[in-house]
Amino acid sequence: MSIFQDDRIIVKTLSGLEDALVEELQQIGASQVTALRRAVECRGDQEILYKINYQSRLGLVVIKPLKTFYAETPDQLYEGVRSIDWMKIFDIGKTISVKASTYKSALDHTQYISQKTKDAIVDYFRDKFGHRPSVDTFDADIQINIHLNENQCEIGLNSSGNPLFKRGYRQATGIAPINEVLAAGLIALSGWDKKSNFIDPMCGSGTLAIEAAMLSQNIPSGYYRDHYSFFHWSDYERFIWKKVKEEADSAMIDYDGIILATDISPKSIEIAEKNIQYAKLHKDIQLKQIDIKNLNYPEGNGVIIINPPYGERIKTKDISDLYQAIGDNLKLKATGYDAWVISSDLEAIRLIGLRPHKRHIVFNGSLECRFNGFKVFKGSKKDQYQ
Ligand SMILES: C[S@@+](CC[C@H](N)C(=O)[O-])C[C@H]1O[C@@H](n2cnc3c(N)ncnc32)[C@H](O)[C@@H]1O
Repeated sequence: MSIFQDDRIIVKTLSGLEDALVEELQQIGASQVTALRRAVECRGDQEILYKINYQSRLGLVVIKPLKTFYAETPDQLYEGVRSIDWMKIFDIGKTISVKASTYKSALDHTQYISQKTKDAIVDYFRDKFGHRPSVDTFDADIQINIHLNENQCEIGLNSSGNPLFKRGYRQATGIAPINEVLAAGLIALSGWDKKSNFIDPMCGSGTLAIEAAMLSQNIPSGYYRDHYSFFHWSDYERFIWKKVKEEADSAMIDYDGIILATDISPKSIEIAEKNIQYAKLHKDIQLKQIDIKNLNYPEGNGVIIINPPYGERIKTKDISDLYQAIGDNLKLKATGYDAWVISSDLEAIRLIGLRPHKRHIVFNGSLECRFNGFKVFKGSKKDQYQ
């Protein structure tokens, strides 16, 4: 008998990536996949749960729902949590933490909700065994998520533990590194075919190039990670985990295109090199220190994704000049490529001077950004310039 009520799985993601995550989860083998706001719900067994954790590039955290109940008062919350048979889920020796969120509910204080939830779990164990599991707010074995939505309480277990953007390859970071899940999301939104070239001309710590290299070779997103929270659950099946890992690892393939990561800053190149070396992708990613003004693209075609400074977190001498230089470089040198720029700076993005053929809205941290695609045709197609 499963410790869970049903086979629902909730995968949280970043705003703007929901539809791409639906497609990814279908490919992984989940069923009844539906997009929610900043999350996707699907169904699957234990093997699917492990697979999503190991293979999803677009998921931030994978939640296994435990129980849904109505809770308008502290007592209803306490009783609802306490009525769960916790000893079937984890052993008293495990550490626990609770993360709460609330929306339009009578209980509107997250710290209070999480304290009450902890009290209910701790009292459950104390009554049964005379002692209780310890709380660890930083790196608990068992991570409980509780969410109240219009007094409807959904309690679940975070099966990932550390969020899935913590891939394990990033040993060093630059000033404004992009989140790994966002990087993978941008690559998915760009529609890159995983066979042609991929260029990351403002690579910083190398995230886009590393994500592209992993994607092109089918390297699982969790390949460099060694821990997930579901390892601590009572129903953990080591042989299923081993099978999931072995199957995914044996599906890795070669990639024949060129992945090029460049940046003007020697420090960024040093940082990117460390991360690329750690991921053992030094043979797959070419790294070069160069100003985008002077960058030539490899023969052939492919996708360019540019993550320039926005002038918010990092200041360059002249943002306008930089965005104009990006536009000039693309118009002159990127013929045949599909170029994409992510930026929160709408004024600056216009200075690129190319008409976008596709636009997406995504969030880089709290910054609302445009992710615009520009096709650079052969010859001087009049109508592609604004
Ligand atoms: C927002 S960061 C990129 C972050 C990167 N995606 C990552 O994951 O770490 C912008 C980068 O643009 C680089 N940059 C600024 N001006 C440049 C130029 N003219 N040519 C090439 N790179 C430039 C900066 O050195 C910085 O590393």
